[in-house]
Amino acid sequence: MADKSMDGLNTFTAEAEKKVDGGRKLRVAIIGCGWIAGSHIKSYMAQPDVEIVAGADLIPGKAAEFFKKYGLEGVKTDYANDEELIADKSLNLDAVSVCTYNRQHAPCAIHALNAGINVLLEKPFTVTLEEAIEVVKAEKRSGKVLSIGFQPRLDANMQKIGEIVRSGVLGKIYYIQTGGGRRRGIPTPFGTSFIEDSTAGLGALADIGCYSLDMVLNAIGYPKPLTVTGYKSDFFGKDPNYCGYRADKRAEYAEKFGVDDFAAAFIRLEGGIILDFRIAWAMNMDTPGDTIILGTKGGLRIPSTECWNGSVGGPMKIYHEVAGMQVETEVPIIKMKEGLFDLKIRSFLDAIKNGTPAPVPSSQIIYNQAILDGIARSAVAGREVEINVPEL
Ligand SMILES: NC(=O)c1ccc[n+]([C@@H]2O[C@H](COP(=O)([O-])OP(=O)(O)OC[C@H]3O[C@@H](n4cnc5c(N)ncnc54)[C@H](O)[C@@H]3O)[C@@H](O)[C@H]2O)c1
Repeated sequence: MADKSMDGLNTFTAEAEKKVDGGRKLRVAIIGCGWIAGSHIKSYMAQPDVEIVAGADLIPGKAAEFFKKYGLEGVKTDYANDEELIADKSLNLDAVSVCTYNRQHAPCAIHALNAGINVLLEKPFTVTLEEAIEVVKAEKRSGKVLSIGFQPRLDANMQKIGEIVRSGVLGKIYYIQTGGGRRRGIPTPFGTSFIEDSTAGLGALADIGCYSLDMVLNAIGYPKPLTVTGYKSDFFGKDPNYCGYRADKRAEYAEKFGVDDFAAAFIRLEGGIILDFRIAWAMNMDTPGDTIILGTKGGLRIPSTECWNGSVGGPMKIYHEVAGMQVETEVPIIKMKEGLFDLKIRSFLDAIKNGTPAPVPSSQIIYNQAILDGIARSAVAGREVEINVPEL
């Protein structure tokens, strides 16, 4: 099954274009010219103030082919890897999009930040918490913008969750259930970079788990995670009869599968909040449940989606009391005019140009990464583990 998470993400509007000052062009390069790089380039090409000047990929010829496909001429691509591109001072780069597989997020982001280049880094932040800490140190040293590619949080429906929490209608929040999953949806659209340990490092846990954590943590102001009991498994990914794989690739993919296809966790957050989490690329169920937020005055239900990709699956519902009666208030879905990917690229460029904070800052996403890391550590240890994020 193809991952549908990219559907409808690139739709830049003429209305948005009007607001942009096209005078000063930012010089941008793409590191890693695979699947998601396609969404980055489409959005960059729609911006009037961007010049795409270079790209690199580890696979010889892949970067050149990539830019040709998008009809871009004169883009420099004769680099063996990200480091060679970063070392080419003639490029005079303002920014890079790091679109490599997870294991290469930290090194590529650090190389670029060390060279004084602003970075838009794809999600998940990194694979381990240690890597994320090193990236943040490089960010602080550089004084440049580092934004992490969590475009779902730019969705007005996602932002509405935070507005509802901040309105006070839910009271004090004490319990959250989040996550979601797919019945058969291990992503192998263009090969195995999502499922091999050497490239991905983590599976469903990081790929879509990072979104479901962000959905609720961002809404409640990213409290510090304290402890976690985590579990992960790989029953579907390692099965040579898994029907979600291409029939001619089942044995090969099952052999190469080196990450998780399901994860669950019980996380304690600062402020006495419990976070109950589950995520699946594959399971014998349609959904492991909606996201729910329980507070002392009200509860919020956020419907799940069939292909869990970090979006609000339908009208949300608030369960509360009014004048001694138990009532439910429906929160209708807001239709977005802008594509989320365009908003992600635009907000990154605006932060660079205006000297404003990163739209998706590492100061928040490091807690997201710390939870993923804690779940992975706890699953291996078979017991609860502490989460310690140093002050950076
Ligand atoms: N934001 C989203 O909606 C979204 C959607 C899909 C994927 N992603 C994320 O994007 C990342 C890439 O996913 P993908 O599907 O495009 O993977 P991919 O395997 O199709 O592409 C990654 C490319 O990076 C190249 N690469 C790796 N290390 C490199 C280096 N040091 N220098 C230059 N090139 C290097 C690889 O050769 C490969 O071509 C993943 O981390 C994934 O989680 C995000």
